[in-house]
Amino acid sequence: MGVKSMKVLNFGSLNLDYVYTVDHMVMAGETLASKEMHTFCGGKGLNQSIALARAGVPVYHAGLIGEEGEILLQTCAESGVNTDFIRRVSGKSGHTIIQVDRSGQNCILLYGGANRSMTREYVDEVLGHFAKGDMLLLQNEINLLNYIVDRACERGMEIVLNPSPYDSHLDSCDFSKISWFLLNEIEGRQLTGEKDPDRILARLGELYPEARVVLTLGAEGSVYRYKKEQYRQGIFKVDVRDTTAAGDTFTGYFIASILEGMPAPEGLKLAARASAIAVSRDGATSSIPMREEVRS
Ligand code: RIB
Repeated sequence: MGVKSMKVLNFGSLNLDYVYTVDHMVMAGETLASKEMHTFCGGKGLNQSIALARAGVPVYHAGLIGEEGEILLQTCAESGVNTDFIRRVSGKSGHTIIQVDRSGQNCILLYGGANRSMTREYVDEVLGHFAKGDMLLLQNEINLLNYIVDRACERGMEIVLNPSPYDSHLDSCDFSKISWFLLNEIEGRQLTGEKDPDRILARLGELYPEARVVLTLGAEGSVYRYKKEQYRQGIFKVDVRDTTAAGDTFTGYFIASILEGMPAPEGLKLAARASAIAVSRDGATSSIPMREEVRS
């Protein structure tokens, strides 16, 4: 496999995921007994770094951990992610409370913790190790995203943004500096104000004509669009156990395909296969497959 010589940096969150198996999602005013509870390593940033590493891409992860966060750093290291830029800060690590219902769907309550303690000094120090042509991957679970985008762009880095979860923190980001958007239908709707997937793609094309877009559509698969080029990929049907990190697995594997110079339709297929395996297993990082499994 020929991964380009550029370096890949993922500046992203690291979370402890407290996952509760429930009959249905708890409702306002309701007290609901859960059936099982497990703690997993997660966070969109960490999941995507691990997906990249398991897909065969050497990746540097930058991010912050707090109390009880050593396991997050250890999990990255054990999965082959370079952890030189992960730092320890005081206070709590990022964490989530995740409910997974009978159909495998989840709902996530996020506490940013250490992920939201980024400083400009730390960002500058990390980005100082990267240069023109290197790739930067970002999600929206850390603070200073706008600053990171601006500084990385000045350095000539190629920026891939997964604007997830979509919230007002993204409003201050200069999206014209983004080379790739990897997003789902809901995020696409929030970003463009359009509902229909074709209209979301068309609007993104108008707003950011130089950016390549991959839009995931749940059971409807995914679509790649760049200027006049457009490709679709369906999903691989499996028994769904837990959808947590399926999108992150898709993102990691699709980026691996870009770095290997694969044509977009093949990249979509590879990413769809990897995320199908992820939804058939429990947890976040624990569900992300190795490249050999995806191949077979
Ligand atoms: O995308 C899944 C991830 O989102 C979980 O691991 C959780 O930490 C949340 O950040």
